[in-house]
Amino acid sequence: MSEALANLLNETRQFPPPAELAADANVTADAYAEAEADRLAFWERQAGRLIWAKQWDQVLDWSNPPFAKWFVGGQLNVAYNCLDRHVEAGRGDKVAIHWEGEPGDTRTVTYAELHRLTCQAANALTELGVVAGDRVAIYLPMVPEAAVAMLACARIGATHSVVFGGFSVESLTNRIQDASAKVVITADGGYRRGKPSALKPTVDEAVANCPSVEHVLVVRRTGEEVAWSAKDRWWHETVETASAEHTAAAFDAEHPLFILYTSGTTARPKGILHTTGGYLTQVAYTTHAVFDLKPETDVYWCTADIGWVTGHSYIVYGPLANGATQVMYEGTPDTPHKGRLWELVDKYGVTILYTAPTLIRTMMKWGEEIPAGYELSSLRLLGSVGEPINPEAWMWYRQHIGRGELPVVDTWWQTETGAIMISPLPGVTAAKPGSAMAPLPGIDADVVDDQGQSVPNGGGGYLVLREPWPSMLRTVWGDDNRFIETYWSRFGAGAGGATGAEWVYFAGDGAKKDDDGHIWLLGRVDDVMLVSGHNISTTEVESALVSHPSVAEAAVVGATDPTTGQAIVAFAIPRGTAETAGETGEQLIADLRAHVAKTLGPIAKPRQIMLVPELPKTRSGKIMRRLLRDVAENRSLGDVTTLQDSSVMELIASGMSGGK
Ligand code: WT7
Repeated sequence: MSEALANLLNETRQFPPPAELAADANVTADAYAEAEADRLAFWERQAGRLIWAKQWDQVLDWSNPPFAKWFVGGQLNVAYNCLDRHVEAGRGDKVAIHWEGEPGDTRTVTYAELHRLTCQAANALTELGVVAGDRVAIYLPMVPEAAVAMLACARIGATHSVVFGGFSVESLTNRIQDASAKVVITADGGYRRGKPSALKPTVDEAVANCPSVEHVLVVRRTGEEVAWSAKDRWWHETVETASAEHTAAAFDAEHPLFILYTSGTTARPKGILHTTGGYLTQVAYTTHAVFDLKPETDVYWCTADIGWVTGHSYIVYGPLANGATQVMYEGTPDTPHKGRLWELVDKYGVTILYTAPTLIRTMMKWGEEIPAGYELSSLRLLGSVGEPINPEAWMWYRQHIGRGELPVVDTWWQTETGAIMISPLPGVTAAKPGSAMAPLPGIDADVVDDQGQSVPNGGGGYLVLREPWPSMLRTVWGDDNRFIETYWSRFGAGAGGATGAEWVYFAGDGAKKDDDGHIWLLGRVDDVMLVSGHNISTTEVESALVSHPSVAEAAVVGATDPTTGQAIVAFAIPRGTAETAGETGEQLIADLRAHVAKTLGPIAKPRQIMLVPELPKTRSGKIMRRLLRDVAENRSLGDVTTLQDSSVMELIASGMSGGK
């Protein structure tokens, strides 16, 4: 990264933890020193948070890199650790899930009830012929049965593959086929944007091309009419009538727990495989450490969908392993009104909120007067995940949701890492808005240059992980070569490094270290632009735009340019009521270009800025820059099927042709 750009993000604000939180924090600064002194002993202590049927013989077997084995010889049952042990300890009446349907219907599910339902589902799946090692696809809305289905698979050692309920027939078919799933668990539908949204027809179409599927279990949620085939079984007739007696057998620490396909905007999706003991150890520890979760008093809420890894690790496995009480919400944040999330925070007394930058920026766009209409006084900690959070979005989150005083933990991780890797510790770290700060205790992350050399403070390059970690992916399902090529062949031994070179995991993210050595994520490496020989990250220009008071959200792409190689093209959504028509719009664009030049230096000034009403996003909320690049380079649009709302592109493209 060029020197002119080294100081691009001139962010100097820093917020120490509130004294009260620091005084009573689950994890103190000692954890870093303890892990530093003996990393494996540290993880071994964290594994001790779980109940093991058989103790491991070896903490880590790294004799065949990059294929790791953690807690070798150990045995445990994941569902036992998430449910039975809490019930056995007399906490059966404690609420596990405060569930809120989009139409306003509610369910309160205690640990005893979640345990009972999971035992019934485990018996029903066994009855349907599912045995340990079989794959089960789950395609459900955000209903408690989604957690039950996952836990029931874990309980009998079946490997679940959850497919996000918004995915198309084609995506679902590919995923079922790739994993040869034997059973699909779905629902008639769920509620989204105020109306029923059907799921069963998609499953019917997919299953027609998936000979591996023997049975389809269908949860009744919307009550809408569904087509019925010989393979179909109603959940309420199969699961809810099954015996509630089920003894959980222990499985090997390396037994496959789940496959989750990465969203991949271009390439064929990869089935990321996670296993049992190491995964549960790290999600349980990070839930405790990063969210400072106190199961007796906290009400935790992660707004992700169960179809993403965030839902797996921080709705199902991490919180339940810790015995937490949590909120689960079925629907969209603006149904029936834009204050729905804040209403739920007040209703359930949510203390810990974990959400995504895209949602925070949407809230900024809707205006701060919406959260201002709620108390939000129960909150004590805020988390962010999924993308780099722009400093202004971080500040807005702290200011308008966090009463200007709550800690914000920006947590970096991936489907592949299974659990949080880089994040502030809320009782320890003086966080900087926009920085994920430092690797957690027991994690070894670094930023390296093209040659794989660690960069000094102030330098930028690629994010890598140097030591295996317990919740790491074990392979790409059915494709060990792709696992090695994608993640382990860029740097170190896997790239043919010198004899004795270590194996280095390439995360695919650009990053930099600031002068204090803190880590700033700069987006996927494919999102770096080369303008007149300067590397400029899309994230930095986006953050500069969002720091202007008239901009709610921005997306930046590099478009081919005859003079500069690539040129910066920006798409900006104006905040709230900003006027964008005619001359006012032209003036705003001129102001924004000047603002970026002033913030980042003239080299980062966008060639072109478009004011747009929306941005194209995948269903997981990631901006699809590929499509914006098509627009910026006047190409016809590529595949838009993974877009959350495909009409967005028409709006943008029509504005573009009429624009400058
Ligand atoms: C990619 C992984 C982790 C669960 C949800 C996404 C980006 C994620 C952050 C963050 C900057 C982040 C990275 C990463 N990302 N969290 N706090 N700061 N970037 O999982 O779909 O596997 O995506 O999301 O680019 O590589 P995923």
